[in-house]
Amino acid sequence: MTESGKVATVSLEGKTASLPVLSGVLGPDVLDIRKIAADLGVFTFDPGYGETASCESKITFIDGGKGVLLHRGYPISQLAEQATFMEVAHLLLNGELPTRAQNDAFVSTIKSHTLLHEQIRNFFNGFRRDAHPMAILCGTVGALSAFYHEGTDISNAASRELSAMRLIAKLPTIAAWAYKYTQGEAFVYPRNDLNYAENFLSMMFAHPSEPYVVNPVLARAMDRILILHADHEQNASTSTVRLAGSTGANPFACIAAGIAALWGPAHGGANEAVLKMLAEIGSKDNIPDFISKVKDKNSGVRLMGFGHRVYKNFDPRAKIMQATCHEVLSELGIKDDPLLDLAIELEKIAIHDEYFVKRSLYPNVDFYSGIILKAMGIPTSMFTVLFAVARTVGWISQWKEMIEEPGQRIGRPRQLYTGSPQRDFPSYDQRG
Ligand code: SDX
Repeated sequence: MTESGKVATVSLEGKTASLPVLSGVLGPDVLDIRKIAADLGVFTFDPGYGETASCESKITFIDGGKGVLLHRGYPISQLAEQATFMEVAHLLLNGELPTRAQNDAFVSTIKSHTLLHEQIRNFFNGFRRDAHPMAILCGTVGALSAFYHEGTDISNAASRELSAMRLIAKLPTIAAWAYKYTQGEAFVYPRNDLNYAENFLSMMFAHPSEPYVVNPVLARAMDRILILHADHEQNASTSTVRLAGSTGANPFACIAAGIAALWGPAHGGANEAVLKMLAEIGSKDNIPDFISKVKDKNSGVRLMGFGHRVYKNFDPRAKIMQATCHEVLSELGIKDDPLLDLAIELEKIAIHDEYFVKRSLYPNVDFYSGIILKAMGIPTSMFTVLFAVARTVGWISQWKEMIEEPGQRIGRPRQLYTGSPQRDFPSYDQRG
């Protein structure tokens, strides 16, 4: 970040604050307000941090107006087309795409951490069989903090690296076992002869009793879906991980906090909500009625998979996801998928409807992802789990960047207090 040399001056009741304007490499400048309380005696107010830069980062850049998404400068479309998820993981964590030797070493390290401590199997037995897999994921990832005492000294670079590798490697195993547990099926162990996406599909769908052959087209699609979900600047779950990590908390506990935040239907839970919405709409004939409900504020109904706090244009990931949808369905020989037809018709109507256009509501990453995942046999309840597997790479990269930032300190927002002025404690007969 550089001082632009520009200064914004704010005056209030005879006091003046000179706020330095800081410039990044891309995107809008920022006003450095760190001295505003000292200069003017006021805080700034931005519930939900929609207009607030909470940190400096080099990992991901989004231009919401132009629908641009870059990871360390590389456009998401090029990464989705040409990279593997492991290459993207190396890029997000370390800042550069790996050389072939670096990639081989990275993949080999990940493969050496895919197994779980056998004691962790006991955790699964503590859950009800009908538990939501996100509940199991959140609980079990948090429990990893009880299993690793070495490698959690976050002031040590090698420890940070070890925790990152363990999390990236073990999330697919925990995710797949969460699914198997809810199905009452035997756990399938990781296979290090398979790549990351193939291994996840194997642990999800193989059975110990018979050989399992991964469909290479589905594995490639899965790898691309992981890339599309890997990181996304300072979204709610990433900000949760950063805030938890800023206290010096255990990295496994911080990622569990991110999983909890991602689960919400306004965030990563939207892919599951899109499928529920399409099922409720049922047929194209019902789309006009549904759209009217969405426009009726009192209905509380939203067009799930549409809208975004940052993108006021198409989410570039949604376009790639739609293309991948067609590839997967044709590979599976699914000619007319009613859900996809319904989604395409819904999108066609919505993007030309004044209500959505005026509010810049376009399909986001979640609108098509659920249709692909369902076609691949992934149950709806596992959609956000898959999102969490992919986003763990982004979360741990952002966590690492935050911990390694010179002068890093605990995050501590302030507030506008609108509660009761000071008052004295009343006895019982003075109350009521
Ligand atoms: C993800 O931040 C990230 O980067 C997230 C993410 C990532 O990779 O980490 O991209 C992943 O979370 C994608 C978003 C998935 N969520 C959904 O698809 C749920 C449906 N979308 C919305 O709930 C909503 O669009 C949000 C939560 C995504 C964004 O909400 P904002 O920015 O707070 O927008 P808002 O609620 O202030 O809405 C502005 C207006 C309102 O109408 P008015 O009050 O101006 O009349 O748009 C309306 C909203 O009612 N609106 C919608 C809508 N989203 C916003 N109306 C109908 N359907 C919708 N989906």
